[in-house]
Amino acid sequence: MKKLYIHLLVVSAMFFNMAGQVFAQDGATPKNLDGKQAITVATEKTEMIFTPDGDNRLQLIFYGTKGSFNGKYDSLAEAYFSGGSDFYYSPALRVTHEDGNTSTLLKLQKSEQKNLDGNIVETRIYLKDDYYNFYVTLVFKAYQKENLIAQHVVFENKEKKAVTIYNFASTALTFSPGKYYLTQFHGKWADEMNMVEELLTPGIKVLDSKLGVRAHEMRNPTFLLGIGEPAREDNGNVIGGSLAWSGSFEFSFEFDENGRLFALCGMNPYMEQRILEPGKTFVTPEMLLVYSNKGTGEMSRSFQDWGRKYGVREGYTPRSILLNNWEATFFDFDEKKLVSLFEGAKKLGFELFLLDDGWFGNKYPRNDDHAGLGDWDVNKKKLPNGVEALCVAAEKIGIDFGIWVEPEMVNPKSELYEKHPDWVIGQKHRPLNFRRNQLNLDLSNPDVREFCFNVVDHLLTANPDIRFVKWDANRFVTNGGSYYLKPELQSHLIYDYHVALYDIMDRVMKKHPNVRMMLCSGGGGRVDYKALSYFHEFWPSDNTDPVQRVYIQWGYSMFYPSIAVAGHVTHWGARPIKFAFDVAMSVRMGMDRDLAKLNEQELAFSKNAIAEYKRVRDVVQLGTQYRLISPYGSNRSASMYVNEDKSHAIAFVFQIKNAAEGDSTTVALKGLIPGKQYKVREINRMPDASGKTSAEVGVFSGKQLMDGALDCRLNAEITSSVYEITAVAN
Ligand code: DGJ
Repeated sequence: MKKLYIHLLVVSAMFFNMAGQVFAQDGATPKNLDGKQAITVATEKTEMIFTPDGDNRLQLIFYGTKGSFNGKYDSLAEAYFSGGSDFYYSPALRVTHEDGNTSTLLKLQKSEQKNLDGNIVETRIYLKDDYYNFYVTLVFKAYQKENLIAQHVVFENKEKKAVTIYNFASTALTFSPGKYYLTQFHGKWADEMNMVEELLTPGIKVLDSKLGVRAHEMRNPTFLLGIGEPAREDNGNVIGGSLAWSGSFEFSFEFDENGRLFALCGMNPYMEQRILEPGKTFVTPEMLLVYSNKGTGEMSRSFQDWGRKYGVREGYTPRSILLNNWEATFFDFDEKKLVSLFEGAKKLGFELFLLDDGWFGNKYPRNDDHAGLGDWDVNKKKLPNGVEALCVAAEKIGIDFGIWVEPEMVNPKSELYEKHPDWVIGQKHRPLNFRRNQLNLDLSNPDVREFCFNVVDHLLTANPDIRFVKWDANRFVTNGGSYYLKPELQSHLIYDYHVALYDIMDRVMKKHPNVRMMLCSGGGGRVDYKALSYFHEFWPSDNTDPVQRVYIQWGYSMFYPSIAVAGHVTHWGARPIKFAFDVAMSVRMGMDRDLAKLNEQELAFSKNAIAEYKRVRDVVQLGTQYRLISPYGSNRSASMYVNEDKSHAIAFVFQIKNAAEGDSTTVALKGLIPGKQYKVREINRMPDASGKTSAEVGVFSGKQLMDGALDCRLNAEITSSVYEITAVAN
């Protein structure tokens, strides 16, 4: 049997010699291999190359920088390896066929390619089981400019009886023997997106979620894979992966006995096997992949560009600056209090007010998180004149009004639960688990799906002046059973739930296209590119301590653009207000504080910061991001945004810990035009004796700034500087 190696390494100086296998670099892209036509899925800078072997079994022979494939390979690892036949590692696909046969043997039928719109090229590779009428189509969308490849898989059962699919990866990659460094983004409530990188060692490393709903509470469905060396910011080969799916997921990385690495990415097969009736299809979520030979910086810029253009709604429309009442009042508010907040917000320059949890429920008023969820009638005691009166007041004051909902959940202490105890997710004969005193509604039930849509639709239809919605989801699934689904279809619950959820979100989006939407799940419990396609932004974490936010926002920046990342100034951590503002200003800025409790100095500072943010918001929200200093392993962190023609940039420097002796004080900027002159000004300073909030730093060439001419002497922990860099006529 041939040795199985696939060449995915593309550094021209890198040669591998494993078991007599030498990969040379001659830059040849294959047109024909073994006399068979190769199928190439290409973006401007990267490509994946597939070819059938002599038996017509499809192989992935290359994923890397375009044009750098050496033309040589020696492989039998299939592009979509299936279980039960001659592949004996974790399979991408595992099916039990109509007669109980547990093996699948896929052969290439044909492929087709079409240009969808000048930027997206779609490739469909059609595979079929060699014996059974079971069809698998690998679908790739190659986003040319963004160098992103999105892959999903479609299964079609044309057998006579139902089949059961146990494994259904969205993508399967094979890497030649070498060193691979995996970075995950793990955490928990209020501690999201911790980056941990490790050298993969023999065995299987699995990054997953089994939480069903709000499935990203403990891990975002993303990873980085450093190829040959740990992922670095500005050089080296790295793959970024992100699954566009809000349910449970699984990424597994397994070495074979020869040191090859198999990476499988997709929905978590845990409790999710799919019974597919004859004539039916099943579609996996999309896996998004970016390969870069210039490190995580370029990879993230690809993801962020793609995110703005395709991943989030209206990714080029600057976001409003909002005041949220959650941390200011929690559940304790009334109309008078809210209107006073509108007034204060308007005076400071806020553009949008968001009313959070606690505005509904009468028999069981929502005065804390124990009751009322599910009963979406306005609480008459707190808001006797309804939401309408709030919209009217907001309009009069001149601020947009937004509102919070959590339509997928119910408190057991609610009229909804009294009426429909069978609408919740739970297992027969087992006690219910009341995390955060609530239960998940079972969206696989069409009645529940309709109820959930109506919660949002009725609210927005009755109050057409609501401009913004924050959609929350505060618990994950335990006891994952459905009282609605038939016994044999219980394992369909989480997938069907999400099909219903996306349908609801889609209908809300289409019926209320002018309402801006924030995706929230007790912080970052549901941050992925499928859910985000219905939303303008997301709430990254309930942890708004700006020191922690430096890390959290750094983590999200690997995949998500700043325009979608909500950063609020709050009281968490009791940090200096300037530091809190500077951190919030580095993404989509807002605030969660009781303005009546701010002192004169804080009010003045806030007003100026909001005005400054308005002035530079286009650069921060729409500009290209360059990460400069990682908070991991450093006492400070820095990043910057540069506008399209590189004439305007904003740089943020956060001193998160006291500077140590020997720490450099300079910051080397990136992304500027070397030969251009730039004026640098520090903005958003605490006012000096004469009330000035900015200071000239000097004029430098782009080259000088990129070589480290900016001296930023912040020594004490929790201090920060914001620099505005503006091109001047040469
Ligand atoms: C969790 C969210 O993350 C918070 O911002 C807030 O909306 C609460 N839920 C309300 O219950």
